[in-house]
Amino acid sequence: MAETNALLEARGIGKSFLGITALDSVDLTLQRGEIHALLGENGAGKSTLIKILTGVYARDRGTIRLDGAEVSPANVAEAQALGIGTVYQEVNLLENLTVAENLFLGRQPRRFGLVDRRAMRDRSRTLLKRYGLDIDVDALLSSYSVAIRQIIAIARAVDLSGKVLVLDEPTASLDGKEVDMLFGVLRKLRDDGLGIVIITHFLNQVYAVADQVTVLRNGRLVGTRALSDLPQLELISMMLGRELQHITRDHQAEEQTVAPLAQAPIRFNGYGKRGSVAPFDLEVRPGEVVGIAGLLGSGRTETAFLLFGIDRADSGGAEIDGKPVALSSPEAAIANRFGFCPEERKTDGIIGDLSVADNIALAVQARQGWAKPISSRQKRALAQDFIRSLDIRPADAERPIKFLSGGNQQKAILARWLATEPRLLILDEPTRGIDIGAHAEILKMIERLCAEGMSLVVISSELEELTAVAHRVIVLSDRRHIAELTGSEVSADAIMQAIAGSARTEAA
Ligand SMILES: Nc1ncnc2c1ncn2[C@@H]1O[C@H](COP(=O)(O)OP(=O)(O)OP(=O)(O)O)[C@@H](O)[C@H]1O
Ligand SMILES: [Mg+2]
Repeated sequence: MAETNALLEARGIGKSFLGITALDSVDLTLQRGEIHALLGENGAGKSTLIKILTGVYARDRGTIRLDGAEVSPANVAEAQALGIGTVYQEVNLLENLTVAENLFLGRQPRRFGLVDRRAMRDRSRTLLKRYGLDIDVDALLSSYSVAIRQIIAIARAVDLSGKVLVLDEPTASLDGKEVDMLFGVLRKLRDDGLGIVIITHFLNQVYAVADQVTVLRNGRLVGTRALSDLPQLELISMMLGRELQHITRDHQAEEQTVAPLAQAPIRFNGYGKRGSVAPFDLEVRPGEVVGIAGLLGSGRTETAFLLFGIDRADSGGAEIDGKPVALSSPEAAIANRFGFCPEERKTDGIIGDLSVADNIALAVQARQGWAKPISSRQKRALAQDFIRSLDIRPADAERPIKFLSGGNQQKAILARWLATEPRLLILDEPTRGIDIGAHAEILKMIERLCAEGMSLVVISSELEELTAVAHRVIVLSDRRHIAELTGSEVSADAIMQAIAGSARTEAA
């Protein structure tokens, strides 16, 4: 084999789970001072590869060399001691400890056998300064934003390990400014000579921050390329093994086609909740997709919680078919045939130990009452239907859902709500964590559901996605509805302008 002085070199890595080949002879080479993106469709094997490098899983085959020496980390601590640190999407820090305590968890500086708080504080400050963070290290971690917590987690991982930093979808819940901040930190670490591996589904971010990219498909290596001479379309076809079909709405042509369907809209009048979202009017017609746009913290998710009865409105009322309804709980919303796909699938969505079929059947079962259990045959048929239409992989209804890749879990949650045939479906960030191929499928499906008369409210921070699917877009800022764009007015520019405009008025 050729001599290289790569920082990290994985060769011929193989791994199977319960008869499924997750990785089949995959190579990855990481140089010092390099940011290396790891891409591929949902279930391609990205997280599995990273977990092998960081000691979470044992590999079945292959070798890993770090600084030229063969290594076999048996657990995360061992990988850390070798120099490989990881930050997972769900930041693994403790919210109710202080920043300093989190940074030195398990290795507090001691003096006379006692934790030396002063030393811990000073070292924390110096450490975070390197990342441009000048924050109160005695404050609880929970008082900081997700972005700051990510950076604290990175600081901890780099301080512990110091050679290789691995990040699995670190930007999934960050807004644009926070992503910039994170990338600033990554570039600095790269310039200090660290090797960084990053998984993300945002291709523009790959181009913004990474030098090299390795693409996996179905557990196999497709190739490693320098991003500087890899056109985006070529990258996409490497990932999918085919060309992507684009979906965009023809807003001009549409203004006429939606109108005839316009009967019996679902109406919210003066709906709001103090401390959450200012009172708003919202009307969603059958067959219509209403988009909700706004920056992080603008009240998007709070609006969804109100519509679905998770939060109870303290002003205004809701109307279906011209009759007032009380949406005082999610149960009431479900009884009115509402569905809600939350943003945080890990905490609000999946039940890991239950099978894919059980997870999909859950909302249907809840609606028809637990006294009338759905038979396992019905459940399996229902699940197989959605496994096919959403291309959930592996196509195994009986597998515990925790064994599916992140993106495939997301699809199963979507299936759960679609199975209830809702009249209003609320989707909060429906394509987050979903690969670009499935992304297009989901947008297509949204279109089809609308044509069948379902109403949709879609919340998304990706303006391209929102303008592609929405007939109408409501723009939120500072927890109020500040603009509504219809038909040909719907564009990413117009949304940005509405947000910027409100920021100016607030500043004035
Ligand atoms: N602990 C496990 N037990 C059984 N199967 C698993 C386990 N972890 C992963 N798999 C399977 O291995 C394959 C690769 O999964 P992996 O999580 O690596 O995908 P991924 O590329 O990270 O996808 P995503 O973009 O959806 O996160 C999938 O088919 C998945 O179902
Ligand atoms: Mg993954």
